[in-house]
Amino acid sequence: MTIPTKPGNDEGTVVIVANRGPHDFVWEAGHWVAKPSTGGLVSMIEPLARQPNVAWFCCVSEPPGSEADRDALYTTAKDQIDPDLNVVPVPLPSGVYRDYYGVISNEILWMLHHHLVGQFGYATLDEESHRAWDAYLEANRRMADAILATEIPVRAFLIQDYHLYPLAAMLRLHFPETPILHFIHIPFPEPSTLKLLPKSWRKALLEGLLGSDVIGLQTADDVRSFLACCEEILRIPVDVHLATVTLSSGRNVRVRAFPASTDPEAIRALQAGVEVDLARKRLAPQMEDHTIIRVDRLDPSKNQIIGFSAFGRLLELHPEFIGRVRFLAFLIPSRTDLTVYREYHDAVYREIERINSRFVQACGFNPIEVFYTNERTQALAAMESCDVLLVNSRQDGMNLVVKEWALVSRKPGVLVVSETAGVASATEEVSLQISPLDVEGTAKALAEALLMPPDARTTWLEQLRSGIKKWTARDWLVAQLQELGITLPEQIARGPLDLADSKGAVEWELQVLNKRGIHARPAATFVQCARGFQCEIEIVREGVSYSAKSILSVLTANLDYGAAFTLRASGPDATAAAEQLRQVLESFKSEE
Ligand code: G6P
Repeated sequence: MTIPTKPGNDEGTVVIVANRGPHDFVWEAGHWVAKPSTGGLVSMIEPLARQPNVAWFCCVSEPPGSEADRDALYTTAKDQIDPDLNVVPVPLPSGVYRDYYGVISNEILWMLHHHLVGQFGYATLDEESHRAWDAYLEANRRMADAILATEIPVRAFLIQDYHLYPLAAMLRLHFPETPILHFIHIPFPEPSTLKLLPKSWRKALLEGLLGSDVIGLQTADDVRSFLACCEEILRIPVDVHLATVTLSSGRNVRVRAFPASTDPEAIRALQAGVEVDLARKRLAPQMEDHTIIRVDRLDPSKNQIIGFSAFGRLLELHPEFIGRVRFLAFLIPSRTDLTVYREYHDAVYREIERINSRFVQACGFNPIEVFYTNERTQALAAMESCDVLLVNSRQDGMNLVVKEWALVSRKPGVLVVSETAGVASATEEVSLQISPLDVEGTAKALAEALLMPPDARTTWLEQLRSGIKKWTARDWLVAQLQELGITLPEQIARGPLDLADSKGAVEWELQVLNKRGIHARPAATFVQCARGFQCEIEIVREGVSYSAKSILSVLTANLDYGAAFTLRASGPDATAAAEQLRQVLESFKSEE
């Protein structure tokens, strides 16, 4: 297998490796049709994949046609062909594919990473699970072999997600000097949770990941969990301030947070399109009065049952809303070949039925309406004019629906979100936050959101929106490439929403959030973090510039509680540095 490379590709090819290829299946007129995916992972890596000298390796099932038996969940090579992308499908025998993707990745790792243990989650491991583990390792080996077989000069590897944990260590054996970054899109578990996996499995996962130079995670909490796992499970030295792990070979692995984000321009373009317009008109009758919506894959981690129970409780607590509020649920079919997903699907529908039958008469209509389809444009139309977006996930890596909703909400709407979603820390002051198992608390938050006056809604929404525009999907990508020392392809670096100016400078307006201010201990942490980056970093306060890499200088800046300042970073890894330091500052809030 060879990869066509453009003439003059002296620097080599950037290799993206993901379980998913660029296409997904949509049910249209009685058939599954492969279409460009609109999911978070694909939409975030696609702009890079469109550049010359970038290849995208993905897993597919063989023999071709095996998808027919499996509701099109088993994608094959022909489904992933795209003339604009350099896709390299890596075929796995369908049995290996089922065990690697269905059993280990989805039934076990996905559940564990989202704290789903027991019913509708990771329950027990039996002989079959142990066999599946071997298939998971085999799938990763086949991927490594396929990459090697191409013999292309590789400039860097960007590996995606939990399907491919062992891969970086396998590649490292053959590519000792090639930069490898592995980004994990889902929350990383704490050591006590990871210990629910057999010892040899959890070691293989962590050691596999540590084949990378950089491990990218969604949030500062995930970074802390990963470091704690390395320390407690592998018993190897970590530096929590520098966020590094030191291997016995002396190699340092950097662990960084790159919060996933959305592309405001792409969303705007979709909003202006005819499909959203048609959906707006179609949904108008349902959205006349008050509406609560949810938009998520039908998945136990999204916690739909509790969301619907809370809606029922809202109608009990506030009978004045009966007949005046609807819950529109845009549920995306997902992993429907797995028993646990089918059982969860049925349980969700039972709960919907229970609530609808209880209130249908009093309302004069079914208060919960489900749209069980993967139609992003319809969901966007609903986001524009809903009163409330409910995201009550048990755990969520980030949750990009929140970011999309914030960009398009017109009514204006209010966000009710789980404290355990990755997006929660960035929305703390501008949303109503709930504990995901708390039905009563969620019902009360829904009521508070519905009753919130438009002025207050607008203030929150505008703040949220401006934060999202400052850190887009492009920044997520740029920061990772910078971290690997890769010069940005022109088309990605360009654009009005980019943070970096022509000199590669980034500015963030920040505020000290901890009551005791940046005294000696937090200053040391801040400086240590800043020193981990190559770029110049300054704190600019009242027109005076202080170096962020000197403790004395940071202390001289008098960063007391509430102090506002500009963090200015300039140089190759400026975007990542600014984001990391913003997160360090935020982490002081709970500690100091
Ligand atoms: C999450 C994961 C992705 C995954 C997506 C959809 O966002 O991080 O890796 O692709 O869910 O799941 P699926 O199993 O359909 O790929």
